[in-house]
Amino acid sequence: MKIVALFGSPRANGNTATLTKTFNKTAEELGADVQTFFLNKLDAKGCQACDTCKTKTDHCVIKDDLSDVLESVKTTDILVLATPIYFADISAQLKIFVDRCYSYLEPFVTMPETSRLKAGKKLVLITAQNRGEELFAEVCTKYRMIFEFLGFKETHLIRGCDLMKADALKTKNRQDLIDLSKETAMKVVNPVG
Ligand SMILES: Cc1cc2nc3c(=O)[nH]c(=O)nc-3n(C[C@H](O)[C@H](O)[C@H](O)COP(=O)(O)O)c2cc1C
Repeated sequence: MKIVALFGSPRANGNTATLTKTFNKTAEELGADVQTFFLNKLDAKGCQACDTCKTKTDHCVIKDDLSDVLESVKTTDILVLATPIYFADISAQLKIFVDRCYSYLEPFVTMPETSRLKAGKKLVLITAQNRGEELFAEVCTKYRMIFEFLGFKETHLIRGCDLMKADALKTKNRQDLIDLSKETAMKVVNPVG
């Protein structure tokens, strides 16, 4: 089973990192092959709306560090999107990837548009935010919808709330979130039934 984890925080050892590392480690222990991309280190452009992926090719023609990421996501079984909440949304580092997912859509000759991705991939959304859980749940709803539109069949959420400082998971003793990360990995790698 292949897992691609797109890590969208600039903090290499922050809250998103701890949750993502916990998820990835458990998945690897269960035999999954995990490939992590540190988006903050990539030199990548946003979608240029050139529409070449609709008129001439079936892929994004921008050649940059996201090219390999876009190719790798095509063959993954599970996609992990890990991001801090910045101004009530995902980080800019991750949003660049999401916009480039436009290249996964077939030309708009029919409505609804169809996805070029093989249907049935699973999505795991990992988020970390300062505010309580009553705020910004709609961010997960929005990206779940976008990836369902791209053919993903189920979404699993790991939402870390009330976490401001990079070490908040540890100082606030949030074992519940560590456990949720492990349980989610077990659920997606070895689903029951
Ligand atoms: C630019 C910026 C914008 C932020 N915006 C929000 C926000 O809108 N809501 C929120 O609850 N926290 C916000 N935060 C706090 C982060 O989401 C929080 O510190 C989170 O734990 C960071 O995750 P990380 O440790 O994985 O980097 C913001 C932080 C930064 C640096």
